[in-house]
Amino acid sequence: MHKPLSILQKIKHPLFEKYNLDVRVKRDDLLHDIISGNKWRKLKYNLAQLKKSNYQGALTFGGSYSNHIHAFAYACKQENIPCIGVIRGESDYANNFTLTWARHWGMQCHFVDRKTYRRRFETNFIDELKEIYPQHFIIPEGGSNSLAIPGVAEVLTELQSQADFDTLITPVGSGGTLAGLICGDSVANSKQHKILGIAVLKQAEYLIDEVKCLLTPEGLTHKNWELLTRFHRGGYGKFSAADVERIIAFNEQTGITFEPVYSGKMILALLDLISQGYFKPYERIVLLHTGGLQGLGGMIEQGRLSAKDWPSLPNTVED
Ligand SMILES: Cc1ncc(COP(=O)(O)O)c(C=O)c1O
Repeated sequence: MHKPLSILQKIKHPLFEKYNLDVRVKRDDLLHDIISGNKWRKLKYNLAQLKKSNYQGALTFGGSYSNHIHAFAYACKQENIPCIGVIRGESDYANNFTLTWARHWGMQCHFVDRKTYRRRFETNFIDELKEIYPQHFIIPEGGSNSLAIPGVAEVLTELQSQADFDTLITPVGSGGTLAGLICGDSVANSKQHKILGIAVLKQAEYLIDEVKCLLTPEGLTHKNWELLTRFHRGGYGKFSAADVERIIAFNEQTGITFEPVYSGKMILALLDLISQGYFKPYERIVLLHTGGLQGLGGMIEQGRLSAKDWPSLPNTVED
């Protein structure tokens, strides 16, 4: 059995008391200062694979404020692996919060326009990139590939020794984390827990098939999971002032920082689901904190959030 790498923290909130719910947070945000949350889990076996092969470097994809790009750049620096980020957007973004750090750690940014970025799963496009960057290990956007699954699955092995629970909830972007949790639960537990994904983007129904594609044969036997697609709050990276206020209030109540793009949307969904009577009395809920707090830096830089509301702010690159 794995020694848990992150703690499971019980949290209090008036709504949990009112509905007799036991809510805990699996603090994967504390796994590492930079490679935090699901990034740590998803990159673990990808990096191991990279290290034992003869690649000359690594290449991945992401938006200009991507948590994955930020974490990946740092992980490659640590392992002395040259790395390329294929970035959606103009080269003006090179000096934003996320990419300044990524470049500081040695990532070479290859900017592509939105139309080209949409081709990121096409074999032709991948072949073009392979010609420019031969012998590079290619990791998809968000780090969600088959090597991500065993890393995320370890969350379940850890939870086995930490607490009994009924429902495990995670935010969902590309689907790798949800798939890893489903697979982990299928192997670690004879009773299938409810695994609930909260999609943070609009029209996310297509992610159900993406998740299924990533499932291992054991994962495919899991029948107790669900992707909820109505809590995107307007789309990826979108949120209202009222949403932010509710997240800040929750952060103050619990002493844990959740950011508004991923983990905060999971919190808002949780609160709404509780009020709608979705959970049974005495249900034991675990929330996976997937990290991503570096994203606050970009949102503050863009004036979308105010620095005073976010006590655990990431650093800026020193000159
Ligand atoms: C902080 C954070 N939480 C959750 C997710 C969603 O994970 P996934 O893309 O595996 O669905 C992401 C994106 O990878 C993320 O950066």
